Amino acid sequence: MENTEALIGQADNQNIPQHVAIIMDGNGRWAQLQGKGRVAGHKAGVESVRQVVATARKSDVKALTLFAFSSENWQRPAKEVSVLMDLFMYVLTKEVKRLHKHNIRFQVVGDLSRFSDKLQKNIAKSEQLTAENTGLVLSIAANYGGRWDIVQAAKKLASDVKQGTMSLDDVNEDTLNEQTCLANLPTLDLLIRTGGDYRISNFLLWQAAYAELYFTDTLWPDFNETQFLKAISCFDHRERRFGKTGEQARNEKT
Ligand code: IPE
Ligand code: IPE
Ligand code: MG
Repeated sequence: MENTEALIGQADNQNIPQHVAIIMDGNGRWAQLQGKGRVAGHKAGVESVRQVVATARKSDVKALTLFAFSSENWQRPAKEVSVLMDLFMYVLTKEVKRLHKHNIRFQVVGDLSRFSDKLQKNIAKSEQLTAENTGLVLSIAANYGGRWDIVQAAKKLASDVKQGTMSLDDVNEDTLNEQTCLANLPTLDLLIRTGGDYRISNFLLWQAAYAELYFTDTLWPDFNETQFLKAISCFDHRERRFGKTGEQARNEKT
């Protein structure tokens, strides 16, 4: 934890990303390197989640979105899926009170219908408990897929048009965006992926249109406060042009 306070202090004067999302990858390989089973990696990854949540809160990030389980992860061995579900239940039961104490609003995004009734109830309870909180918004993406998100948004618009409550001419980027999962949050600024791969794996496809991408070889259980602050600091040095020239972008900043 070298100079963490200094790094956070430094972050105060920086351009802090309002919304950060993380593809938390590399648990299985981390465990393998330790000569352990994959499950040990998932368990160790919970501590990294604690660290990034605490750091996001202290660094004034407004929204943190974590990819915990993709719609494709059901294809893993049944035993691994079951452990991941148990771990999810455990974390919900144990950690949500702490999140609430820190004024964090918690939500789960994704197709929850495939989860057990017990898990769905636990999710709803956790969301209700923290619903009025005004600090960091922590979203956990579970059984989430970027394509699914776009399709479910399109379906809502199609249904409104079919019922006559919306005109076809009102279908546009803004109205579709409003129906996507994270529409209530600031635009995604920074997308981090740990674990050394350079892909999005069907995470926030719509939302990542102009996000800055940050890839690190660090495996998720080794990702900590210092590493997160490094990613935030790297974001500060990016020139975001949004299609304009560098000169235009710099002039708008000043
Ligand atoms: C990410 O780690 C966690 C989930 C996808 C649930 P992995 O389990 O994918 O770890 P690697 O990529 O096999 O090392
Ligand atoms: C992405 O990791 C999903 C999560 C981190 C939850 P994966 O390990 O599933 O991605 P791929 O299979 O390497 O693309
Ligand atoms: Mg992986």
